[in-house]
Amino acid sequence: MTYFLYFSPTGGTSKYIKAIAPLSPDHELHDLTLKRDSLSLSLNSSDLLVLAYPVYFGRIPPLVLEKLNDLQGNQTPAILLGVYGNRHYDDALKEGADFLEKKGFIPYAAAALIAKHTYGNIQLHRPDEEDLLQLKDFFIQIVEKEEKVKGSFPGNVPYKEMGEPHFYPFTNEDCIACGACQRACAWKAIDEEYQTIQERCSACLACLPVCPMDARVLPKAYDDFAVAFSEKLKEPRENEFFL
Ligand SMILES: Cc1cc2nc3c(=O)[nH]c(=O)nc-3n(C[C@H](O)[C@H](O)[C@H](O)COP(=O)(O)O)c2cc1C
Repeated sequence: MTYFLYFSPTGGTSKYIKAIAPLSPDHELHDLTLKRDSLSLSLNSSDLLVLAYPVYFGRIPPLVLEKLNDLQGNQTPAILLGVYGNRHYDDALKEGADFLEKKGFIPYAAAALIAKHTYGNIQLHRPDEEDLLQLKDFFIQIVEKEEKVKGSFPGNVPYKEMGEPHFYPFTNEDCIACGACQRACAWKAIDEEYQTIQERCSACLACLPVCPMDARVLPKAYDDFAVAFSEKLKEPRENEFFL
């Protein structure tokens, strides 16, 4: 059985994983994004794990690791997909591989894949057809591999220090208290008054498009940041595949 596990607040990672899941006749697809508790799953050596997550500050979002607390492998081969917004993935693949190895998996292949960045206007159209095709080709090739031995993936230890968002979304007076933002928030970072609990918020911005009143907004300072950031990251990067 192939287990596809993914976390995807704004849908980029989800597009990649959903492109390859149908290529495995026997599979389970687990969306961890809004799952409130950790996923309890025990895999054996004839299974395969595919774990996909967005890169935050060059790392795996800590919440993803929390949700995988009760995941256990037993010499189970694993593939990692780190999805990032065209800046860099830094230590996110290495961190994922180290984590899975400690949990009894053999991380033997990985990919660093481009998706639209959360902020600004960076690679808005990605993943596109070509990105998905590249991942499908890679997946078919690695699944068929006879010898699945532990791979070596880019990244450093100690991992890059986890950063903090520069700005947080907030709720303005147009809010009608419908709760859509709370339901869309993976971090449980919107309180009963519909205000942002900054200590929990990752500024993933999943709460903005779901608001029917456009009442979830960003501070003014975001606009200038977004323009400069988009300019800085305008050169498209290529997907990278590691085996
Ligand atoms: C808090 C935060 C930190 C991020 N850090 C990075 C980063 O270090 N490098 C990068 O290229 N993209 C970064 N991004 C962009 C995301 O990795 C990218 O938009 C990804 O596609 C989001 O995945 P999703 O659409 O599946 O939620 C960051 C996004 C957020 C919200």
